Amino acid sequence: MSDKLIIFDTTLRDGEQSPGASMTKEEKIRIAKVLERMKVDVIEAGFPIASPGDFEAVKAVADNIKDSTVCGLARALDKDIDRAGEALKGANSSRIHTFIATSPIHMEKKLRMSPEQVVEQAVASVKRARQHTDNVEFSPEDAGRSELSFLCRIIEKVIDAGATTINIPDTVGYNIPHQFGSLLHNLLDKIPNSDKAIFSVHCHNDLGLAVANSLSAVLNGARQVECTINGLGERAGNASLEEVVMAIRTRQDVFDCDTTLDTTQIVPASRLVASITGFPVQPNKAIVGANAFAHESGIHQDGVLKNRETYEIMLAEDVGWSENHIILGKHSGRSALKSRLKDLGIEFKSEESLNQAFARFKELADKKHEIFDDDLQALVSETTSSFNHERIKLVSLKVCSETGETPSAAVILSVNGEEESAEASGGGPVDAAFKAIEKIINSDAELKLYSVNNITSGTDAQGDVTVRLEKEKRVVNGQGADTDIVIASAKSYINALNKLVQADERAHPQL
Ligand code: KIV
Ligand code: ZN
Repeated sequence: MSDKLIIFDTTLRDGEQSPGASMTKEEKIRIAKVLERMKVDVIEAGFPIASPGDFEAVKAVADNIKDSTVCGLARALDKDIDRAGEALKGANSSRIHTFIATSPIHMEKKLRMSPEQVVEQAVASVKRARQHTDNVEFSPEDAGRSELSFLCRIIEKVIDAGATTINIPDTVGYNIPHQFGSLLHNLLDKIPNSDKAIFSVHCHNDLGLAVANSLSAVLNGARQVECTINGLGERAGNASLEEVVMAIRTRQDVFDCDTTLDTTQIVPASRLVASITGFPVQPNKAIVGANAFAHESGIHQDGVLKNRETYEIMLAEDVGWSENHIILGKHSGRSALKSRLKDLGIEFKSEESLNQAFARFKELADKKHEIFDDDLQALVSETTSSFNHERIKLVSLKVCSETGETPSAAVILSVNGEEESAEASGGGPVDAAFKAIEKIINSDAELKLYSVNNITSGTDAQGDVTVRLEKEKRVVNGQGADTDIVIASAKSYINALNKLVQADERAHPQL
C-alpha cells in the first residue's frame, strides 16, 4: 500500500454547487493557482457539459495549471465525456471523472435503469474516456447506500475497462465512520483486481461526518480523498481539505500515509475562497477559523506561555497564519508590489493591468498605513474584475447619514461609457446607495446576501463586502473592498451587476 495520499480538490466543482457559490472563469483560475501552489495533486475544475461557461472555465484552468492534474466531471454519457475531453485538451496532465448512480433507489427512481444497464453504461463510458486520457476516474454515485455485491461487480468491470481511480462517494452523507471504513476494507478485499486502481473517497457532510468518514476510509486503504477548501459543497458541504490534511499530518502516529501538500497555503486559500464565494468561515472552524489558534482562558494562556504543546497540537504558521505579514506601505514601489504579487502567485498578463493595480495600491496606501497580503488579494479581485467585466463603473458616491435624519445617497455611474446620476434615500446609507444605483440600472435583481467582513484588524481595515444577486435563476456574487464600507458596498453591488449583465455568466452550475 502506497504511503502517498492523493488530495483531489473539488472546490471548483462540488464546492461551486453550493447554492450561490458560482464563480467566474477568472475566479476559478485564481483559486486553481492557489491550489497548485499548495501542491494539490488533482484539481476538479468543473462540469464541462453543464454550460458553455462551465466548459470555458474548465478549459481555462486546464490551460493555466501546469503542476496539478486538472480533472473534468462527466456523467456516464458519450456527449459528456467528449465535452470533458475537449475542455481538458490543453492540460499538462488531465483526468476525466465519470459517474453513474448504483444505489437501488437511484437506479430505480432516478435513472430508471436495471443494474445490468448501469454496468454496461459504466463500462462503455470508462472506455470512451480512455480515448481522451489514460487517467480515468469512475464514481458509483451514492455508493454509501449501494449494495456491496453490486459495487464489487461494477467496480471490477470498470477497472478491467481502464479506470485508474475508483471513487466511493457517500453522496448523501449517510454513513457512520466505522461503517464507511469497513466498506472500503471490503471493496479492497473482495474485488479481485482492486490492486490495479487507486481507491478514493468523496464524503458529504449531512451528518457532520464527512471528515471522520474520509479518515476512516484512509485507515482502511483509501489513497485519495476528495475534499474542498472550507468544506464548501452541495448542501452541508464536502469533507474539508484543511481538516483532512492536518489530521493526517498531525497524527502520523496513526496514519500510514501522508500528503505532499504545502500546508502553509491553507489559510490564504481559505480566505480567497471565502471572499470569492461570499461564504464566510465561522470563527471556531478548525484550522482556518479566526479563533482556531487563539487562547482566551487564563489557564490556557499560562500553559501555552510555559510550553506551547500544553494546549497546541499544531503550529499556526504551518497552516499559513503568519504568512499575512505587513508587507508594503506608502513608499513601496511598483516592483515591490509586482514581486509580492508574484510570491502570492499572481501575475498580470499586461503591463496595463499591473499599472492599474499599482494605482489602486497607492490610493489604498494613502488611506491605510500597513498593507497586508489579504489587502492585496482584494485589490487584485477588483483589478481583475474591472479589466474583464465592468460595463458599469462607480464614478462617485456621496452619502448623508445623520442621527434623526433619513439617510440619502447620490451616485454617479458610468454605464457603457456614458455618465448617469441618481439620488435616493433608504433605511441606512448602504440601502440608500443600492437604491440610487438601482434607479440607474433597473436590474430588477433580488438581493440574496449582503455581508461585510474586515479584511485585516484595526479601524482602518478594509471592509470586504459580498453582495449576492439573483435574477431569473442566475445567481452571482459581487465583491468590493474599501476602507469606507459604504463605498465597498456600492463597489460590491456594481460588481455583481456587471456579472449579471455579462453574457457568458452561468446559471447555477448543476445540470
Ligand atoms: O457526491 C457525489 O456523489 C458526487 C459525484 C459526482 C462524485 O459529487
Ligand atoms: Zn459530491
